[in-house]
Amino acid sequence: MQKRIYFTGASGKAGKHAAAYLIQKGHRVLNADITQANQEGLDYLKVDVTNSAQVFSSMSAHMNRDELRLRQTPLGYDAVVHFAAIPRILQASDIETYKVNVMGTYNVIEAAVKLGIKKIIFASSETVYGLCFSHNKPAPLSLPIFEEDETRPMDSYAMSKVVNEETAKAFQRRTGIDIYGLRIGNVVEPDEYHLFEDFCKDPEVRLPNAFNYIDARDLGQAVDLCLSKDGLGYEVFNVSNDQNSVNLTTEDILKRFYPKVPLKRDVDPYECLFSNEKIKKLLGFVPQYDWRRQT
Ligand SMILES: NC(=O)c1ccc[n+]([C@@H]2O[C@H](COP(=O)([O-])OP(=O)(O)OC[C@H]3O[C@@H](n4cnc5c(N)ncnc54)[C@H](O)[C@@H]3O)[C@@H](O)[C@H]2O)c1
Repeated sequence: MQKRIYFTGASGKAGKHAAAYLIQKGHRVLNADITQANQEGLDYLKVDVTNSAQVFSSMSAHMNRDELRLRQTPLGYDAVVHFAAIPRILQASDIETYKVNVMGTYNVIEAAVKLGIKKIIFASSETVYGLCFSHNKPAPLSLPIFEEDETRPMDSYAMSKVVNEETAKAFQRRTGIDIYGLRIGNVVEPDEYHLFEDFCKDPEVRLPNAFNYIDARDLGQAVDLCLSKDGLGYEVFNVSNDQNSVNLTTEDILKRFYPKVPLKRDVDPYECLFSNEKIKKLLGFVPQYDWRRQT
């Protein structure tokens, strides 16, 4: 079913591909972002998500001038997709990263809930498990990495994502609506496939990501599946490709990089150790893009 979607951060690396995917599926999408992207079919409002008044005002406004001409009362939104954030440490000060991500998420979820929107999808991150951006290259407690594993952040970005998950859980508990968090892996855009050559030359660079990646277009599929699936309440999903991102078998990766890490179950020859089993099972996610085929 076609939906009206308030999408924060659709000018960014991940958001622009996810928004394009949703538009292609027939949804109407408003991009709420501090920077504008010129994308076919994407409406835009300049919104700073750290400013609650701007979030409330834009979420309860018309989507564009055509809608304003046709109706006095705005149509409202069926769903909110919240991607706007500072997407890693060392891009802004730690406190700014924490503030934008935590307050932005609170403001967006609060406004959506109070305006009666029944579906919220937000970008969490692989970093909640404490491998990326942590000191001393910590090893995972066990592999593959599943959603029920302990979250162990050590930096302001990963901390902000763990706090956002708690915020989302609290709003869901109070309202009973659907709020799904995507623990997104390392996003690779279609024009970044040349990076895999470097990953293969020096596989160790992928250690902070447990050798995962997700094509930005497949992330669009994940968001669309979240929009279609109702009634799950609060859930988080790892979002990754089926396969690892280097030219080693997963068995070789385990022997070389994780000799002491307990294995929870057998793994397929190239299986991604940041497991996407849950999103495949609950939502029917099937990644379409594969760096080994260069497509
Ligand atoms: N890129 C990755 O590998 C990756 C991995 C895991 C999770 N994520 C998450 O996915 C989401 C998107 O990441 P991305 O890689 O596209 O980042 P990005 O920096 O490319 O895009 C973020 C967007 O948010 C906007 N933004 C920043 N602060 C804002 C504010 N105060 N108000 C409104 N808009 C604001 C930016 O203008 C930008 O368009 C983020 O939540 C990020 O934490 C990204």
